[in-house]
Amino acid sequence: MHWDKLTHDEINNRIQQAIGENINYRDTPLLGIPGSFLDEEEFYPEAPFLEDSPFLATFVNNPNHIGCHTVTKEKSEPFFRGTQKLELEVIKICAEQILKGEEDQQDGYIAPGGTEANLQAIWLYRNYFQKEFNASINEIALIYSEDSHYSMPKAANILGLNQYVIAVDFESRQINLTDLDQQIKVAQRKGVKHFIVIQNMATTMFGSVDKIDRVTDYLVENDINFKLHIDGAFGGFIYPFTNSNNPLNFTNKHITSFTLDGHKMLQTPYGTGIFLIRKGYMKYGLTDEAKYVSGKDYTICGSRSGANSISIWMTLMTHGSMGWTVKMEHLLDKTASVCSKLDKLGIEYFREPKVNLITIKAKYISHQLAKKYNLIPNTSDEQPKWWKIVVMQHVKKGVLQQFLSELQAERSLVN
Ligand SMILES: Cc1ncc(COP(=O)(O)O)c(C=O)c1O
Repeated sequence: MHWDKLTHDEINNRIQQAIGENINYRDTPLLGIPGSFLDEEEFYPEAPFLEDSPFLATFVNNPNHIGCHTVTKEKSEPFFRGTQKLELEVIKICAEQILKGEEDQQDGYIAPGGTEANLQAIWLYRNYFQKEFNASINEIALIYSEDSHYSMPKAANILGLNQYVIAVDFESRQINLTDLDQQIKVAQRKGVKHFIVIQNMATTMFGSVDKIDRVTDYLVENDINFKLHIDGAFGGFIYPFTNSNNPLNFTNKHITSFTLDGHKMLQTPYGTGIFLIRKGYMKYGLTDEAKYVSGKDYTICGSRSGANSISIWMTLMTHGSMGWTVKMEHLLDKTASVCSKLDKLGIEYFREPKVNLITIKAKYISHQLAKKYNLIPNTSDEQPKWWKIVVMQHVKKGVLQQFLSELQAERSLVN
Protein backbone atom coordinates (compact mmCIF):
# COMPACT_ATOMS: atom_id res chain seq x y z
CA MET A 1 0.00 0.00 0.00
CA HIS A 2 1.43 3.33 -0.91
CA TRP A 3 0.48 6.90 -1.68
CA ASP A 4 2.57 9.98 -1.07
CA LYS A 5 1.84 12.73 1.38
CA LEU A 6 1.61 16.31 0.12
CA THR A 7 2.46 19.58 1.83
CA HIS A 8 -0.27 21.99 2.87
CA ASP A 9 0.63 24.28 -0.04
CA GLU A 10 0.54 21.43 -2.54
CA ILE A 11 -2.86 20.38 -1.22
CA ASN A 12 -4.16 23.92 -1.32
CA ASN A 13 -2.92 24.47 -4.88
CA ARG A 14 -4.46 21.24 -6.17
CA ILE A 15 -7.80 22.06 -4.60
CA GLN A 16 -7.84 25.68 -5.76
CA GLN A 17 -7.00 24.39 -9.24
CA ALA A 18 -9.88 21.88 -9.01
CA ILE A 19 -12.27 24.60 -7.89
CA GLY A 20 -11.02 26.70 -10.80
CA GLU A 21 -12.02 23.89 -13.18
CA ASN A 22 -15.53 23.80 -11.72
CA ILE A 23 -18.11 26.16 -13.07
CA ASN A 24 -18.18 29.51 -11.32
CA TYR A 25 -21.76 30.38 -10.46
CA ARG A 26 -20.74 34.06 -10.36
CA ASP A 27 -19.46 34.76 -13.84
CA THR A 28 -21.04 32.10 -16.08
CA PRO A 29 -24.45 32.48 -17.69
CA LEU A 30 -26.02 29.54 -15.83
CA LEU A 31 -29.74 29.80 -16.40
CA GLY A 32 -30.86 26.22 -15.95
CA ILE A 33 -29.16 24.89 -12.83
CA PRO A 34 -31.27 24.52 -9.69
CA GLY A 35 -28.22 25.30 -7.54
CA SER A 36 -26.12 28.31 -6.73
CA PHE A 37 -23.36 29.57 -4.46
CA LEU A 38 -24.10 29.56 -0.76
CA ASP A 39 -26.08 32.41 0.72
CA GLU A 40 -23.72 35.37 0.70
CA GLU A 41 -24.92 36.92 3.94
CA GLU A 42 -23.69 33.90 5.85
CA PHE A 43 -21.02 32.44 3.53
CA TYR A 44 -19.30 35.49 2.06
CA PRO A 45 -16.92 34.48 -0.73
CA GLU A 46 -14.36 37.20 -0.11
CA ALA A 47 -13.52 35.91 3.41
CA PRO A 48 -9.70 36.10 3.51
CA PHE A 49 -9.23 32.74 5.26
CA LEU A 50 -10.80 30.87 2.32
CA GLU A 51 -7.59 31.26 0.35
CA ASP A 52 -5.76 29.13 2.85
CA SER A 53 -8.59 26.81 3.77
CA PRO A 54 -9.23 24.51 0.82
CA PHE A 55 -12.05 22.55 2.44
CA LEU A 56 -14.02 25.69 3.30
CA ALA A 57 -13.25 27.15 -0.12
CA THR A 58 -14.75 24.03 -1.72
CA PHE A 59 -17.69 24.16 0.65
CA VAL A 60 -18.45 27.75 -0.42
CA ASN A 61 -17.91 26.85 -4.10
CA ASN A 62 -20.73 24.33 -3.45
CA PRO A 63 -20.06 21.62 -6.05
CA ASN A 64 -22.74 18.95 -6.45
CA HIS A 65 -21.13 15.54 -7.08
CA ILE A 66 -24.39 13.88 -8.09
CA GLY A 67 -23.93 10.55 -9.92
CA CYS A 68 -21.12 8.02 -10.02
CA HIS A 69 -18.06 9.40 -11.81
CA THR A 70 -16.04 6.19 -11.98
CA VAL A 71 -18.81 4.91 -14.26
CA THR A 72 -19.67 7.97 -16.31
CA LYS A 73 -16.32 9.84 -16.22
CA GLU A 74 -16.41 12.73 -18.71
CA LYS A 75 -20.17 12.25 -19.15
CA SER A 76 -20.73 13.32 -15.51
CA GLU A 77 -22.00 16.85 -14.80
CA PRO A 78 -19.44 19.09 -16.55
CA PHE A 79 -19.95 21.95 -14.07
CA PHE A 80 -18.03 20.19 -11.31
CA ARG A 81 -15.38 18.39 -13.32
CA GLY A 82 -12.48 19.78 -11.28
CA THR A 83 -13.51 18.49 -7.87
CA GLN A 84 -14.94 15.27 -9.37
CA LYS A 85 -11.37 14.41 -10.40
CA LEU A 86 -10.27 14.50 -6.77
CA GLU A 87 -13.16 12.22 -5.81
CA LEU A 88 -11.94 9.79 -8.49
CA GLU A 89 -8.51 9.85 -6.83
CA VAL A 90 -10.07 9.04 -3.46
CA ILE A 91 -11.94 6.06 -4.91
CA LYS A 92 -8.78 4.84 -6.61
CA ILE A 93 -6.69 5.03 -3.43
CA CYS A 94 -9.33 3.28 -1.34
CA ALA A 95 -10.04 0.54 -3.89
CA GLU A 96 -6.52 -0.08 -5.17
CA GLN A 97 -4.13 0.89 -2.37
CA ILE A 98 -6.12 0.19 0.78
CA LEU A 99 -8.18 -2.73 -0.59
CA LYS A 100 -5.75 -4.07 -3.21
CA GLY A 101 -8.11 -3.97 -6.17
CA GLU A 102 -6.73 -4.21 -9.68
CA GLU A 103 -6.12 -0.97 -11.51
CA ASP A 104 -9.33 0.66 -12.76
CA GLN A 105 -11.43 -2.39 -11.94
CA GLN A 106 -13.60 -0.83 -9.24
CA ASP A 107 -16.38 1.76 -9.14
CA GLY A 108 -17.48 3.83 -6.21
CA TYR A 109 -18.65 7.14 -4.81
CA ILE A 110 -18.68 9.17 -1.63
CA ALA A 111 -21.98 8.39 0.07
CA PRO A 112 -23.63 10.31 2.92
CA GLY A 113 -22.47 7.63 5.34
CA GLY A 114 -21.98 3.95 6.09
CA THR A 115 -25.73 3.35 6.18
CA GLU A 116 -26.20 4.44 2.58
CA ALA A 117 -23.11 2.57 1.39
CA ASN A 118 -24.51 -0.64 2.91
CA LEU A 119 -27.94 0.07 1.50
CA GLN A 120 -26.43 0.78 -1.92
CA ALA A 121 -24.74 -2.64 -1.96
CA ILE A 122 -27.88 -4.49 -0.94
CA TRP A 123 -29.97 -2.51 -3.43
CA LEU A 124 -27.58 -3.31 -6.31
CA TYR A 125 -27.54 -7.04 -5.44
CA ARG A 126 -31.30 -7.23 -5.10
CA ASN A 127 -31.63 -5.69 -8.56
CA TYR A 128 -28.84 -7.94 -9.91
CA PHE A 129 -30.63 -11.11 -8.78
CA GLN A 130 -33.92 -9.82 -10.13
CA LYS A 131 -32.46 -8.88 -13.50
CA GLU A 132 -29.98 -11.69 -14.11
CA PHE A 133 -31.90 -14.57 -12.53
CA ASN A 134 -35.42 -13.30 -13.00
CA ALA A 135 -35.75 -13.74 -9.22
CA SER A 136 -38.88 -12.67 -7.41
CA ILE A 137 -38.43 -10.70 -4.20
CA ASN A 138 -39.22 -13.81 -2.13
CA GLU A 139 -36.42 -15.73 -3.78
CA ILE A 140 -33.82 -13.27 -2.45
CA ALA A 141 -32.73 -12.95 1.19
CA LEU A 142 -30.34 -10.84 3.22
CA ILE A 143 -28.04 -12.69 5.63
CA TYR A 144 -26.09 -10.95 8.36
CA SER A 145 -24.86 -11.66 11.87
CA GLU A 146 -26.48 -10.42 15.04
CA ASP A 147 -23.45 -8.15 15.58
CA SER A 148 -23.96 -6.38 12.25
CA HIS A 149 -24.98 -2.74 12.11
CA TYR A 150 -28.65 -1.78 12.19
CA SER A 151 -28.37 -0.50 8.62
CA MET A 152 -28.90 -4.15 7.57
CA PRO A 153 -32.44 -4.53 8.97
CA LYS A 154 -33.10 -0.99 7.74
CA ALA A 155 -32.05 -2.05 4.23
CA ALA A 156 -34.20 -5.20 4.40
CA ASN A 157 -37.12 -3.06 5.45
CA ILE A 158 -36.68 -0.44 2.72
CA LEU A 159 -35.95 -2.96 -0.02
CA GLY A 160 -38.67 -5.43 1.00
CA LEU A 161 -36.21 -8.28 1.53
CA ASN A 162 -36.50 -11.34 3.75
CA GLN A 163 -33.74 -11.35 6.32
CA TYR A 164 -32.01 -14.03 8.36
CA VAL A 165 -29.98 -12.92 11.36
CA ILE A 166 -27.25 -15.38 12.29
CA ALA A 167 -26.16 -15.93 15.88
CA VAL A 168 -22.56 -15.36 16.90
CA ASP A 169 -20.48 -17.12 19.53
CA PHE A 170 -20.65 -15.08 22.77
CA GLU A 171 -16.89 -15.09 23.34
CA SER A 172 -15.36 -15.02 19.85
CA ARG A 173 -18.14 -12.98 18.20
CA GLN A 174 -17.72 -15.16 15.10
CA ILE A 175 -20.72 -16.41 13.15
CA ASN A 176 -22.11 -19.69 14.42
CA LEU A 177 -21.85 -21.95 11.36
CA THR A 178 -24.50 -24.36 12.61
CA ASP A 179 -26.96 -21.50 12.87
CA LEU A 180 -25.93 -20.26 9.43
CA ASP A 181 -26.57 -23.70 7.98
CA GLN A 182 -29.92 -24.05 9.72
CA GLN A 183 -31.14 -20.61 8.70
CA ILE A 184 -30.08 -21.04 5.10
CA LYS A 185 -31.94 -24.34 4.99
CA VAL A 186 -35.04 -22.68 6.43
CA ALA A 187 -34.74 -19.95 3.81
CA GLN A 188 -34.32 -22.48 1.02
CA ARG A 189 -37.39 -24.38 2.19
CA LYS A 190 -39.28 -21.10 1.88
CA GLY A 191 -38.10 -20.76 -1.71
CA VAL A 192 -35.05 -18.48 -1.32
CA LYS A 193 -32.52 -19.11 -4.09
CA HIS A 194 -30.21 -16.09 -3.93
CA PHE A 195 -28.44 -14.68 -0.88
CA ILE A 196 -27.00 -11.24 -0.15
CA VAL A 197 -24.41 -11.90 2.55
CA ILE A 198 -22.84 -9.27 4.80
CA GLN A 199 -19.56 -9.74 6.65
CA ASN A 200 -17.84 -7.19 8.84
CA MET A 201 -14.46 -5.56 8.99
CA ALA A 202 -14.96 -4.45 12.60
CA THR A 203 -18.46 -4.54 14.04
CA THR A 204 -19.96 -1.52 15.75
CA MET A 205 -20.03 -2.89 19.29
CA PHE A 206 -17.08 -5.28 19.34
CA GLY A 207 -14.78 -4.30 16.52
CA SER A 208 -14.82 -8.00 15.61
CA VAL A 209 -13.60 -8.90 12.14
CA ASP A 210 -15.42 -11.81 10.53
CA LYS A 211 -13.25 -14.71 9.43
CA ILE A 212 -14.92 -14.81 6.08
CA ASP A 213 -13.32 -17.99 4.74
CA ARG A 214 -15.46 -20.00 7.17
CA VAL A 215 -18.55 -18.49 5.62
CA THR A 216 -17.48 -18.48 1.97
CA ASP A 217 -16.22 -22.08 2.23
CA TYR A 218 -19.64 -23.08 3.53
CA LEU A 219 -21.45 -21.13 0.79
CA VAL A 220 -19.29 -22.56 -1.98
CA GLU A 221 -19.41 -26.14 -0.66
CA ASN A 222 -23.18 -25.91 -0.51
CA ASP A 223 -23.45 -24.46 -3.99
CA ILE A 224 -25.23 -21.34 -2.79
CA ASN A 225 -25.71 -18.40 -5.13
CA PHE A 226 -24.53 -15.35 -3.19
CA LYS A 227 -23.09 -11.86 -3.36
CA LEU A 228 -20.83 -10.79 -0.50
CA HIS A 229 -20.55 -7.24 0.82
CA ILE A 230 -18.06 -6.22 3.50
CA ASP A 231 -19.10 -3.56 5.98
CA GLY A 232 -15.83 -1.80 6.81
CA ALA A 233 -17.51 1.40 8.02
CA PHE A 234 -15.65 1.21 11.29
CA GLY A 235 -12.62 -0.89 10.39
CA GLY A 236 -11.82 0.31 6.90
CA PHE A 237 -9.40 3.06 7.84
CA ILE A 238 -7.63 1.12 10.58
CA TYR A 239 -7.60 -2.64 9.97
CA PRO A 240 -5.90 -2.67 6.53
CA PHE A 241 -3.21 -0.38 8.01
CA THR A 242 -2.57 -2.26 11.22
CA ASN A 243 -2.86 -5.78 9.79
CA SER A 244 -0.57 -6.30 6.83
CA ASN A 245 -2.24 -9.69 6.30
CA ASN A 246 -5.74 -8.25 6.12
CA PRO A 247 -7.66 -10.84 4.09
CA LEU A 248 -10.66 -8.58 3.49
CA ASN A 249 -9.87 -6.95 0.20
CA PHE A 250 -10.52 -7.22 -3.52
CA THR A 251 -7.96 -10.03 -3.95
CA ASN A 252 -10.63 -12.29 -2.45
CA LYS A 253 -12.75 -13.26 -5.44
CA HIS A 254 -15.82 -13.89 -3.29
CA ILE A 255 -16.04 -10.28 -2.15
CA THR A 256 -17.82 -7.91 -4.51
CA SER A 257 -18.14 -4.66 -2.55
CA PHE A 258 -17.13 -2.65 0.51
CA THR A 259 -18.37 0.12 2.74
CA LEU A 260 -15.75 2.39 4.29
CA ASP A 261 -16.50 5.44 6.36
CA GLY A 262 -14.34 8.56 6.41
CA HIS A 263 -16.30 10.09 9.26
CA LYS A 264 -15.30 7.36 11.68
CA MET A 265 -11.60 6.47 11.83
CA LEU A 266 -10.43 8.93 9.16
CA GLN A 267 -11.76 11.93 11.12
CA THR A 268 -13.36 13.60 8.12
CA PRO A 269 -16.66 15.51 8.46
CA TYR A 270 -20.00 13.72 8.59
CA GLY A 271 -21.20 12.92 5.09
CA THR A 272 -18.15 10.90 4.07
CA GLY A 273 -19.23 7.29 3.65
CA ILE A 274 -17.48 5.44 0.84
CA PHE A 275 -19.02 2.79 -1.41
CA LEU A 276 -16.72 0.58 -3.51
CA ILE A 277 -17.70 -2.23 -5.85
CA ARG A 278 -16.15 -4.30 -8.61
CA LYS A 279 -16.85 -2.98 -12.08
CA GLY A 280 -20.00 -4.25 -13.74
CA TYR A 281 -22.44 -3.84 -10.85
CA MET A 282 -23.24 -0.11 -10.61
CA LYS A 283 -25.48 -0.51 -13.65
CA TYR A 284 -28.01 -2.30 -11.41
CA GLY A 285 -28.54 1.05 -9.69
CA LEU A 286 -29.01 3.11 -12.83
CA THR A 287 -32.05 5.35 -12.65
CA ASP A 288 -32.63 5.89 -16.33
CA GLU A 289 -35.32 8.46 -15.61
CA ALA A 290 -32.67 10.86 -14.20
CA LYS A 291 -32.59 12.42 -17.65
CA TYR A 292 -31.76 15.98 -16.61
CA VAL A 293 -28.55 14.80 -14.87
CA SER A 294 -25.54 14.44 -17.16
CA GLY A 295 -24.43 10.84 -16.79
CA LYS A 296 -27.73 10.04 -15.02
CA ASP A 297 -27.67 8.63 -11.49
CA TYR A 298 -26.54 5.33 -10.00
CA THR A 299 -26.67 6.21 -6.31
CA ILE A 300 -29.38 6.24 -3.68
CA CYS A 301 -28.78 9.79 -2.50
CA GLY A 302 -28.73 11.90 -5.70
CA SER A 303 -27.23 15.33 -4.97
CA ARG A 304 -24.24 15.26 -2.64
CA SER A 305 -21.65 17.81 -1.60
CA GLY A 306 -18.34 17.67 -3.45
CA ALA A 307 -16.73 19.29 -0.41
CA ASN A 308 -17.09 15.96 1.41
CA SER A 309 -14.99 14.17 -1.21
CA ILE A 310 -12.39 16.92 -0.91
CA SER A 311 -12.19 16.49 2.86
CA ILE A 312 -11.29 12.81 2.38
CA TRP A 313 -8.77 13.62 -0.34
CA MET A 314 -7.15 16.24 1.90
CA THR A 315 -6.87 13.91 4.87
CA LEU A 316 -5.38 11.11 2.79
CA MET A 317 -2.87 13.51 1.22
CA THR A 318 -1.95 15.21 4.49
CA HIS A 319 -0.75 11.94 5.99
CA GLY A 320 0.21 9.73 3.06
CA SER A 321 -0.06 5.96 3.57
CA MET A 322 2.95 5.84 5.89
CA GLY A 323 1.74 8.67 8.10
CA TRP A 324 -1.69 7.15 8.41
CA THR A 325 -0.26 3.75 9.30
CA VAL A 326 1.84 5.29 12.08
CA LYS A 327 -1.18 7.17 13.41
CA MET A 328 -3.27 3.98 13.53
CA GLU A 329 -0.45 2.08 15.21
CA HIS A 330 -0.38 4.70 17.97
CA LEU A 331 -4.05 4.02 18.60
CA LEU A 332 -3.32 0.30 18.83
CA ASP A 333 -0.54 0.93 21.36
CA LYS A 334 -2.93 2.90 23.53
CA THR A 335 -5.55 0.15 23.19
CA ALA A 336 -3.01 -2.54 24.09
CA SER A 337 -1.96 -0.71 27.25
CA VAL A 338 -5.60 -0.57 28.44
CA CYS A 339 -5.96 -4.29 27.71
CA SER A 340 -2.86 -5.22 29.70
CA LYS A 341 -4.18 -3.28 32.69
CA LEU A 342 -7.56 -5.05 32.38
CA ASP A 343 -5.71 -8.38 32.24
CA LYS A 344 -3.88 -7.52 35.47
CA LEU A 345 -7.19 -6.69 37.12
CA GLY A 346 -8.68 -9.99 35.92
CA ILE A 347 -11.38 -8.18 33.95
CA GLU A 348 -12.80 -10.02 30.96
CA TYR A 349 -13.33 -8.21 27.69
CA PHE A 350 -13.47 -8.79 23.95
CA ARG A 351 -10.83 -7.28 21.73
CA GLU A 352 -10.08 -8.00 18.11
CA PRO A 353 -6.31 -7.84 17.64
CA LYS A 354 -5.36 -4.88 15.42
CA VAL A 355 -8.56 -2.98 16.20
CA ASN A 356 -8.88 -0.06 18.64
CA LEU A 357 -12.02 -1.19 20.39
CA ILE A 358 -12.39 -2.90 23.77
CA THR A 359 -15.72 -4.30 24.93
CA ILE A 360 -15.81 -5.08 28.64
CA LYS A 361 -18.18 -7.60 30.19
CA ALA A 362 -20.73 -5.57 32.12
CA LYS A 363 -20.41 -7.60 35.33
CA TYR A 364 -16.98 -6.05 35.91
CA ILE A 365 -18.00 -2.42 35.88
CA SER A 366 -20.64 -0.39 37.68
CA HIS A 367 -23.27 1.43 35.68
CA GLN A 368 -22.20 4.60 37.43
CA LEU A 369 -18.55 4.35 36.38
CA ALA A 370 -19.46 3.37 32.82
CA LYS A 371 -21.76 6.37 32.59
CA LYS A 372 -19.19 8.73 34.13
CA TYR A 373 -16.76 7.90 31.31
CA ASN A 374 -19.44 7.68 28.61
CA LEU A 375 -18.84 4.06 27.75
CA ILE A 376 -21.42 2.73 25.30
CA PRO A 377 -23.64 -0.23 26.31
CA ASN A 378 -24.62 -2.97 23.85
CA THR A 379 -28.26 -2.18 24.54
CA SER A 380 -30.10 0.90 25.73
CA ASP A 381 -32.14 -1.06 28.28
CA GLU A 382 -31.21 -1.32 31.94
CA GLN A 383 -29.27 -4.59 31.69
CA PRO A 384 -26.38 -4.27 29.22
CA LYS A 385 -24.08 -7.26 28.90
CA TRP A 386 -21.20 -5.22 27.55
CA TRP A 387 -19.71 -1.73 27.67
CA LYS A 388 -17.40 -0.51 24.93
CA ILE A 389 -14.42 1.80 24.80
CA VAL A 390 -13.31 3.11 21.42
CA VAL A 391 -9.75 4.36 21.59
CA MET A 392 -9.96 7.28 19.19
CA GLN A 393 -7.71 10.28 18.75
CA HIS A 394 -9.48 12.34 21.44
CA VAL A 395 -9.13 9.57 24.05
CA LYS A 396 -6.14 10.77 26.04
CA LYS A 397 -3.84 8.51 28.03
CA GLY A 398 -4.52 10.52 31.20
CA VAL A 399 -8.26 9.93 30.98
CA LEU A 400 -7.72 6.22 30.31
CA GLN A 401 -5.44 5.98 33.34
CA GLN A 402 -7.92 7.81 35.54
CA PHE A 403 -10.70 5.48 34.37
CA LEU A 404 -8.56 2.40 35.01
CA SER A 405 -7.59 3.51 38.51
CA GLU A 406 -11.25 4.13 39.39
CA LEU A 407 -12.08 0.72 37.95
CA GLN A 408 -9.32 -0.83 40.04
CA ALA A 409 -10.67 0.86 43.17
CA GLU A 410 -14.14 -0.40 42.38
CA ARG A 411 -12.86 -3.95 41.81
CA SER A 412 -10.90 -3.98 45.08
CA LEU A 413 -14.13 -3.20 46.96
CA VAL A 414 -15.92 -6.09 45.20
CA ASN A 415 -13.11 -8.65 45.70
C1 LIG B 1 -20.02 -1.22 11.27
C2 LIG B 1 -20.89 -0.04 10.92
N1 LIG B 1 -21.55 -0.03 9.76
C3 LIG B 1 -22.33 0.99 9.39
C4 LIG B 1 -22.48 2.09 10.20
C5 LIG B 1 -23.37 3.20 9.77
O1 LIG B 1 -22.66 4.36 9.50
P1 LIG B 1 -23.34 5.79 9.41
O2 LIG B 1 -23.78 6.16 10.78
O3 LIG B 1 -22.24 6.61 8.85
O4 LIG B 1 -24.48 5.70 8.47
C6 LIG B 1 -21.82 2.12 11.44
C7 LIG B 1 -21.98 3.26 12.35
O5 LIG B 1 -21.66 3.23 13.50
C8 LIG B 1 -20.99 1.03 11.81
O6 LIG B 1 -20.34 1.00 12.98
